Amino acid sequence: MDMKQSSSWAMADSYDANLPDYMTEVYNWAYVDPKKVRWLDRNLVVRVLLFFNDQRLIRAYLNEIREGMKVWQVAHVYGDLVKRVADKVGSRGIFHLTDVTPVQIEHAQQKLADKPWCKVMRRDAADFFGEEGVDYDLICSFFLLHEVPENKKYQIVNRMLELLPKGGKAIFVDYGRPAKWQPIRYILKVVNRLLEPFAEALWNNEIKHYAREAEKFVWEKKTFFGGVYQCVTVRHKECRGFSK
Ligand SMILES: C[S@@+](CC[C@H](N)C(=O)[O-])C[C@H]1O[C@@H](n2cnc3c(N)ncnc32)[C@H](O)[C@@H]1O
Repeated sequence: MDMKQSSSWAMADSYDANLPDYMTEVYNWAYVDPKKVRWLDRNLVVRVLLFFNDQRLIRAYLNEIREGMKVWQVAHVYGDLVKRVADKVGSRGIFHLTDVTPVQIEHAQQKLADKPWCKVMRRDAADFFGEEGVDYDLICSFFLLHEVPENKKYQIVNRMLELLPKGGKAIFVDYGRPAKWQPIRYILKVVNRLLEPFAEALWNNEIKHYAREAEKFVWEKKTFFGGVYQCVTVRHKECRGFSK
């Protein structure tokens, strides 16, 4: 499907039945309702949501990108992140962005409209099978896992690893387990109770836990802000010679 086609489809079915239940039941206010999304889709919102750690978390992702790479980002993110990824990939590369929600697709398409090396596709990340002939150098989940139920976490992690070629890298930037001394831990406890029912699983489980064949990969984890955030990179074990 080309960008034009998927755009008109996206506008036509803003509230459709194809959304996963958790999107309408839990996250309607944040990602589905077009009016609210229009208001929320800005850098300041990302900054505040991430307690001003946005730039270093974004850098953890951008630092993995080299010009000309083929990158799949599994879901849209508010603000200018997708534009920055697209610019870093550049016109000699490929940037594929998937998302499951029509209004997010619409926003992403507007942001990337002048960058023909980018393609925005309406797909559940758990059901994305890539494109023929495209082997991704980098596959990124930026703050998606904490928002999806447990079975979807398994499906998304495994889909990403199944699409990861030898020599490629997957990166997960997301919440982790905050240290007991970190006051934000207690704020997040309340936020999670009220708004993010699937987030605390990442306090208790390593991302590796969701991988069917975790032992076949090299897992590297960095934490930020007293453990509130984590960045996990994954490569095939057989391929330690990744260019980065
Ligand atoms: C990446 S997450 C959260 C990011 C962060 N809160 C932000 O600043 O946008 C939000 C996105 O994930 C999308 N999403 C949720 N479940 C998905 C799935 N199974 N596959 C692809 N995208 C999904 C939502 O539609 C939304 O655009």
